[in-house]
Order: sequence, then C-alpha cells, then structure tokens
Amino acid sequence: MDSVVEMRNVSRSYRSGGETNKVLDDLSITIKKREMVMIMGPSGSGKTTLLNILGGIDQADGGSVMVAGADLTGLDVSSLNKYRRSKVGFIFQFYNLIPTLTAAENIELSLETHMKKRARMRSRAREYLELVGLRDKIDAFPQEMSGGQQQRVAVARALAKEPDLILADEPTGNLDEARERSVMELMNMLQHKIGTTILIVSHNSALKRYMDRTLILRRGKLESDRTNGGH
Ligand SMILES: Nc1ncnc2c1ncn2[C@@H]1O[C@H](COP(=O)(O)OP(=O)(O)OP(=O)(O)O)[C@@H](O)[C@H]1O
Ligand SMILES: [Mg+2]
Repeated sequence: MDSVVEMRNVSRSYRSGGETNKVLDDLSITIKKREMVMIMGPSGSGKTTLLNILGGIDQADGGSVMVAGADLTGLDVSSLNKYRRSKVGFIFQFYNLIPTLTAAENIELSLETHMKKRARMRSRAREYLELVGLRDKIDAFPQEMSGGQQQRVAVARALAKEPDLILADEPTGNLDEARERSVMELMNMLQHKIGTTILIVSHNSALKRYMDRTLILRRGKLESDRTNGGH
C-alpha cells in the first residue's frame, strides 16, 4: 500500500456549555509515503486537532483514520500508545520538553520504546542534536535554552526516532531564517533518505517551497492551495 495517511470523512466537534463547535467536518486526505505536505489555515481552524487525531492523541467522532495500515479508530488505549511511540514523531506547537531532563535525555526517553542499548540511544540523541546545530547544548536543561533552541530539541527528538510519520505543529515558529532553512532541509533529507512521510501545519507560507503539496484548512475541510503549488 502506497498511502501512509488515509483520512476519510472525518469529523470532530467540541461541546462547551450548550454549544457544539464543529472543528473538522467531513474531512478527507490521502498522503503517500515519502510525501511532505503542509496544511495552512487561520488560528482556531483545527490544525492541531487534525494532527492530534493522526497522532493518536485525540479521536475523531466519525469517519476513518488509517495510518501505515492501522485503523486508529479501532485501536484500544494500549495499542494507541504503542502506535504513538513507535510510528510517529510528534513536534508539538509548544515543544513539550520535560523540564527536569537535559536535551539529550529528552531525546533518549523517546527512543526507549524501540532501542534497547543506552549507548545507542545516547549516540542517536547526540547525532540529531548536532544535526540541528545544538552540539553545545547536549547536556543543557530546557530552562537554560532559548525558545528557538528548545524548538530545535523538539525537532531533533521527533526526527531521531526516524519514524514512518512525522507530525509537526508550527515546527519553525521560533526560528530565525537560517535555522528555519536548516530544519526544513533536514526534514527534506529524512524524507528522501529514510522515506519518512511528513505533515506540517503552519501559518508560514515561506515553508511552501520545501513541500510537495500545500492544503488549506477552511470551515472544517481541506482545499487545495491555489496560490502556489510547492516544488
Ligand atoms: N479540548 C478542547 N475542548 C474544547 N474546544 C477545543 C479543544 N481543543 C480545541 N478546541 C477548539 O477547536 C478549535 C480548533 O482548535 P485547534 O487548536 O485545532 O486550532 P489551530 O488551527 O491549531 O489554531 P492555532 O493556529 O491557533 O494553533 C478552536 O476553536 C478551539 O477552541
Ligand atoms: Mg494549533
């Protein structure tokens, strides 16, 4: 099977008080292996909600969600945990680094489920911290790093797993242009070298040039981006 992500007629609503807020409405998308796709859309349009559903953090109310051949709507909690740990690299909008662990330890922790040897985890963490330009922060704690440096630790953590699917929520929001370029080039490299599928949500239209495709999330549905088709 060639598609890694297959969402069909997915809906997700939130209820607060007596109101129902339909965030995703009959949304469908297919993403092929090795594809890098960006979803843009205004604040509150449901981008994080969509990523959380694909990452097994949130669940759709209706429709089907297939990732790498697994039907996420049918998985129980422990299978969902296993799926999330082994198949997905998540770059969260607000990094989610553990404050009591160093940069390297944050990455090693995320490798524990699929690497057995401490030394290998350690060298993999170091390798990816170097790739994002943080050689000198390997043993630093999050509070000792700038926002952009913490963001790069979060990027390194997701990429170090070399997962089937990377889900990235505004992954360059805190980076200057040079860092943004190196992070995006690193993702392009992984896409080609390992065959990783990458879904990015962002407000930043400058990222389009790294993409195979850009889509717009509007009124709960995805539309193709008519302004510019990527490369
Ligand atoms: N757990 C929740 N409970 C209730 N409403 C929620 C919840 N999570 C999200 N929402 C609502 O769903 C809508 C979409 O939120 P979401 O976080 O997916 O937006 P977004 O596109 O990621 O926005 P941003 O660009 O600001 O990050 C918003 O109106 C938000 O208030
Ligand atoms: Mg968001």
